[in-house]
Amino acid sequence: MSAPSADSARSALEALRQEISKAVVGQDAAVTGLVIALLCRGHVLLEGVPGVAKTLLVRTLATALELDTRRVQFTPDLMPGDVTGSLIYDSRAATFSFQPGPVFTNLLLADEINRTPPKTQASLLEAMEEHQVSVDGRPHPLPEPFLVAATQNPVEYEGTYPLPEAQLDRFLLKLTIPLPSRDTELDVLTRHAEGFDPRDLAAMGVRPVAGRAEIEAARAAVARTTVSPDVTGYVVDICRATRDSPSLSLGVSPRGATALLSAARAWAWLTGRDYVTPDDVKAFAPPTLRHRVRLRPEAEMEGVTSDSVLHSVLTHTPVPR
Ligand SMILES: Nc1ncnc2c1ncn2[C@@H]1O[C@H](COP(=O)(O)OP(=O)(O)OP(=O)(O)O)[C@@H](O)[C@H]1O
Ligand SMILES: [Mg+2]
Repeated sequence: MSAPSADSARSALEALRQEISKAVVGQDAAVTGLVIALLCRGHVLLEGVPGVAKTLLVRTLATALELDTRRVQFTPDLMPGDVTGSLIYDSRAATFSFQPGPVFTNLLLADEINRTPPKTQASLLEAMEEHQVSVDGRPHPLPEPFLVAATQNPVEYEGTYPLPEAQLDRFLLKLTIPLPSRDTELDVLTRHAEGFDPRDLAAMGVRPVAGRAEIEAARAAVARTTVSPDVTGYVVDICRATRDSPSLSLGVSPRGATALLSAARAWAWLTGRDYVTPDDVKAFAPPTLRHRVRLRPEAEMEGVTSDSVLHSVLTHTPVPR
């Protein structure tokens, strides 16, 4: 079988949206964000209250891409080995062998990552960064593609372990999953009344419309998109402006700047161009940067949010023409 062309890969990825909509009502921005992260080999934070279809979305995406998916509930007593795997003793062979953990999958849903202690969080973040798990000095490569979608509840809980900034910076995007509009919610309820069963995606008609080959072809095409020096300068100016914002105690790092450029390139390609425009950068600045800045407590008390700061930065940064 020959590799798909860049154009057919794009059409296949566009068809994903319709496929996912057979199970998930709305949430288009989140679907797009997950696809962009796949193309950039990145990971995403999903923020939303319980019951807004975060799990359903990731499971449906995996089905429509013919990828393996696993879910791990991060609890206070979860150990690093429960995520990455561990050595078990094989008494017949009298040796230890590696039993892979749930991280050995394509789409890992890491639910409530801020409920587990730092040591277990760190084991996942290490796997995300290195695309492998090292046990006893021996590396075990993770499957490809590998994407972690980690969920966080926006409501602060007692006894949670918020991810430190250095670890948040490792997520390409932070996507917020909003509560549905009235019409969307009516649609969800109507589907349920008609017998929709979220556990049976096949019965909903969700089929694979793209897969590894399309993801590979798309990644290669994204790598061929061109970026003018003006657009690169625009990315740098936006990130630098966050460091000067009086509302922030921490601005965007250079890693954040490279993330924004990657996401903008993938978005440019997905929308049918082989070059990046300032609008591509603007479109992906909020999801790429919102979790990489820290608000000053005074600003937070006045009702300032990361998104409002980024909005103001985008309004004030001169756009190249
Ligand atoms: N936008 C939506 N489209 C279709 N179904 C929805 C939508 N929102 C909620 N639902 C329904 O609500 C159920 C709960 O969704 P799901 O378990 O995926 O939520 P969640 O965000 O993962 O929740 P939690 O944070 O508790 O894990 C779904 O199985 C589905 O039946
Ligand atoms: Mg869930």
